[in-house]
Amino acid sequence: MMKPELQKAFNKQINEELYSAYLYTAMVNYFESESLDGFATWMRAQVVEELIHASKLIAYMHDRGGNVQLEAIAKPTATWKGALDAMQAAYKHECHITECINKLYSAASKVGDHAAAIFLNWFVNEQVEEEANADAIIQQLKLAKDAPGPLFMLNRELGARAITFPTATTPAE
Ligand SMILES: [Fe+2]
Ligand SMILES: [Fe+2]
Repeated sequence: MMKPELQKAFNKQINEELYSAYLYTAMVNYFESESLDGFATWMRAQVVEELIHASKLIAYMHDRGGNVQLEAIAKPTATWKGALDAMQAAYKHECHITECINKLYSAASKVGDHAAAIFLNWFVNEQVEEEANADAIIQQLKLAKDAPGPLFMLNRELGARAITFPTATTPAE
């Protein structure tokens, strides 16, 4: 059984992941409004990933007999100054999530819940990828410097990102 304070910390993280999905949905809408359909496709895959993150935490709490508490999800920003501004906001948000995950990992260690800490290893590693992915797009946008040609190419490249749904048998992977 998870300690109540760790359950509270998990519930907070579930809200953070659902907010991430909400924020990235706002970015999908923004990119669509700017006719950046490739960026929208890339961000749509990101929304699905965040929902999977929340689902993994929820499934884990159920496995451990925890009490999942869903709180209200904050209203996200709806508009940005351009693709670079939006991607920088996404990167900044991922850095915030990394901090949240680190705190959650510390909370699990503090109460001596090694199983939870080991489970959270996946999230620690995932955040390295999440920051790197957003940063890679920022670097390409900086190289493009608003030139229509490179931006068009980048938009097309990002549009090739596939959405991968996990199978029902592998919720914790
Ligand atoms: Fe996440
Ligand atoms: Fe993320």
